[in-house]
Amino acid sequence: MNRPEREFLTYDPRGTFLPETGIAPADLAQLAPRLAAARREILEVDLPLWNSSGAVPAEKQPLDAGFHELPERLLKAYTSDRRQSELHHILGTAHRLGETVDRVVVLGIGGSYMGARALMEACCQPYYNERSRAARGGHPRLYFEGNNVDNDASQGLLDLLASAKLTASGEDGWAIVVASKSGGTLETAVALRQFLAALRKSHGGDAKGLAERVVPITGSSGRLRELAQALGCADTFPVPEGVGGRFSVFTAVGLLPAALLGLDVVALLEGAAAMNEHFRTAPPGENVVLDYVGVSHLLEERRGATIRLLSVWSKALESVGLWYDQLLAESLGKHERGATPLTVVNTRDLHSRAQQHQEGRRDKLITNVIVESWRTDPLAVGRSDFDQDRLNDLADKTLPEIMDAAIAGTNEAYRHDGRPTADIRLPCVDEYTVGQLLQMLMLATVVEGRLIGINPYGQPGVEKYKQNMNRILKGG
Ligand code: PA5
Repeated sequence: MNRPEREFLTYDPRGTFLPETGIAPADLAQLAPRLAAARREILEVDLPLWNSSGAVPAEKQPLDAGFHELPERLLKAYTSDRRQSELHHILGTAHRLGETVDRVVVLGIGGSYMGARALMEACCQPYYNERSRAARGGHPRLYFEGNNVDNDASQGLLDLLASAKLTASGEDGWAIVVASKSGGTLETAVALRQFLAALRKSHGGDAKGLAERVVPITGSSGRLRELAQALGCADTFPVPEGVGGRFSVFTAVGLLPAALLGLDVVALLEGAAAMNEHFRTAPPGENVVLDYVGVSHLLEERRGATIRLLSVWSKALESVGLWYDQLLAESLGKHERGATPLTVVNTRDLHSRAQQHQEGRRDKLITNVIVESWRTDPLAVGRSDFDQDRLNDLADKTLPEIMDAAIAGTNEAYRHDGRPTADIRLPCVDEYTVGQLLQMLMLATVVEGRLIGINPYGQPGVEKYKQNMNRILKGG
């Protein structure tokens, strides 16, 4: 690690230390041995079990612990034998596609697209797709589909793509990246069939050209893998065994779209690896993962805070919040337990939800995600001859200053009313800090699962809707 310490995110739970409605620092200290035990279970039982070829005992199944050490593994392979490494293959494919097409449609649902979208929205310029190719650094536009069966949304994208004619340079052409671990998820499979038909049409009879423009990311067997073979796809990527969908952001599922966008995937993985190191070594009380879990758990157990608000103070982080909503909900929402996650974006949602958070039921823990330094120059309010809006008093204030005042004012109001509030602070939003944050939240989800005795892996409940939908579609 050659990154300066100051770039590490922090977690500050002091706003949850409240006499009547929150917890006390001593509660957290008391929980420390159990948090340390959960970490030991992950590091000393789950990981060795996962790494060994031995059978996984029934009470541990499924054990999708493969996500944990992925960042280190990918980085190590990339430095030791670059040309043979997975990361090299991902970057090479992104480069090849980026040179030949201007739009890429990422098909996938749930864990098979939410991480990629989170990375795009967090790390790219806002309005990335609207920018010229030069302003995008020569990287293609990215769209997400196959995450619904919404007729008008699919038609809308197909219409847009139909207007992107295939030129000799390929500059206006498009390609498909399709991610489905099982290879059989209906939403994604239907979208692939429809988008593939459109892509075939735009390619005439050029089967080779088509095969170069479809990149499947899937498990070692299944319908999508068979289809990839039948099409003769030039590049296919695995979702490794033992890495579940919502934990797959650091496989090709997240990394290929990120590389297509020109993001620094090495920094992303370095951030995640730095979080792993911190998780392994920092004691409870100084460990952002364990402390975050401890505070969340205590507030749920002692104060009935079953709703976890992730209050992100940056529009760029909304999709990170939605990714986390899915991660927490699908991992721990089992056996009639598990907190309910809810992402809010502020200051936007202060005008839609804050009333309830300030004075509604006392069933919430608020975790702010605060960005300390913005990417672009501060925008001042500005002086105007038309001062009917009375803003000349604030003319020299900038948007970051107004944001800081809103955060401080909201935290003060919540504290005054005894609403438990913690802060995650990101030094900035870039690949390195986002890598840390995603890994922190994945580790926290697994630690909490081990702490409360719920297997965080697998999502057996989701099968029920699928079975019913398929039965209904077949007229049963
Ligand atoms: O987290 C999960 O495992 C799920 O959300 C899956 O990612 C989602 O159901 C899509 O599955 P698949 O990748 O098999 O199409």
